[in-house]
Amino acid sequence: MRKTLFSATGLVKQFHELRATDNVDIDVKPNEVHALIGPNGAGKSTLVNLLSGLLPVDAGRIVLDGRDITSLSAHQRVRAGLSRCFQVTNLFKQSSTLDNLRLAIQAHEGNNFRLFGKRDAEQALTTQAIALGARVGLVGDAVLQAPAGSLPHGAQRQLDIALALAARPKVLLLDEPMAGMGPDESARTVELIRKLRQDMAVLLIEHDMDAVFQLADRISVLVYGKVLATGTVEQIRSNPRVQEVYLGTETA
Ligand SMILES: Nc1ncnc2c1ncn2[C@@H]1O[C@H](COP(=O)(O)OP(=O)(O)O)[C@@H](O)[C@H]1O
Ligand SMILES: [Mg+2]
Repeated sequence: MRKTLFSATGLVKQFHELRATDNVDIDVKPNEVHALIGPNGAGKSTLVNLLSGLLPVDAGRIVLDGRDITSLSAHQRVRAGLSRCFQVTNLFKQSSTLDNLRLAIQAHEGNNFRLFGKRDAEQALTTQAIALGARVGLVGDAVLQAPAGSLPHGAQRQLDIALALAARPKVLLLDEPMAGMGPDESARTVELIRKLRQDMAVLLIEHDMDAVFQLADRISVLVYGKVLATGTVEQIRSNPRVQEVYLGTETA
């Protein structure tokens, strides 16, 4: 068994009467894509909010690369190596794609540019921004110079992923990256996630089961805030309880 890179144990989140996260254990290994699936309202986004530090936990412990990050702020968790993308994108829509990339790099690596003179620093930042865009498939002047808000939906999601990558995460949390995408955009995103996993681990929340089955090393199924099962694609597909509550006859 490979060692664990990221883990949550005994996570609980209570919203008044509702236990949205009910004693959840989940772990992610290096270079693994661990998919989290479950019906609407199962508590997937709440779990990502707990993991990323957007919401405080009521109980439980979150550990990244041997470090307890449970009490760190969202910002501190990003610094520690945990980045997330947002279901609703998080871009400066009036600014160009390139400027969004430049700002993200500057936010995380501003200090590194102090060694350069001003003009060289600008040039180095732009070079890195272009490379970061290329990493997620955003290439060419037309795309880089366009206001981010004018890009097609799929390209905005790609940019959102690039902004998360600027922090050089060890673990990337993706909450429904294919939501609202057409088949071509989804296929490209599958390829992108496959490429990213060479450099990091990914916790992927996704409704598109084709994408999940193509990408996931392991799948966890969340139902009413609880993990119903964790296993390989085959184990999850053939698990009768999973079929009953979630997959139905779709995969039979
Ligand atoms: N801030 C909140 N306050 C109260 N209830 C919430 C809040 N956020 C989510 N919930 C409830 O928690 C449950 C899980 O929601 P969510 O995590 O968004 O599920 P999913 O992402 O799996 O669709 C739902 O019943 C939802 O209505
Ligand atoms: Mg959700």
